[in-house]
Amino acid sequence: MLNYPRVAIDFMNNDHAEFVALRKHLLDLLHTGAEHAQVDAMLDNLLEHTRLHFAEEEKLMLSVQFPPYPMHKGEHDKVLADMIARAEKWKVTRDAKDLSSWLEHAVRDWFVNHVSSMDFVTAAYIQARGE
Ligand SMILES: [Fe+2]
Repeated sequence: MLNYPRVAIDFMNNDHAEFVALRKHLLDLLHTGAEHAQVDAMLDNLLEHTRLHFAEEEKLMLSVQFPPYPMHKGEHDKVLADMIARAEKWKVTRDAKDLSSWLEHAVRDWFVNHVSSMDFVTAAYIQARGE
């Protein structure tokens, strides 16, 4: 169970719930020793979802000229780069334990932290600006 707050913008809440489900699905696959191809496909889904979600948030932040945009965008870029590197590493090593431990800990901590701080504040600002 991930403990994170609802934010003021609905599409962000929906995307966050989807992210949680994708992460869980991926962990389930890894824990049941699924085929590499299945894990690859889910990892691609997670990456694609994250890419689209970040782009959507960034578009909104720009449209309301959200002052801390560079900070929020910087964290998105860092996280995406890390995800891409992790996916590449998995494809080379096929180390299921390593990948699931990254998902269990680093991804969980990052997600809960990011939603509770940056997304929470950003959504409140956007909503106050009438979206
Ligand atoms: Fe964000």
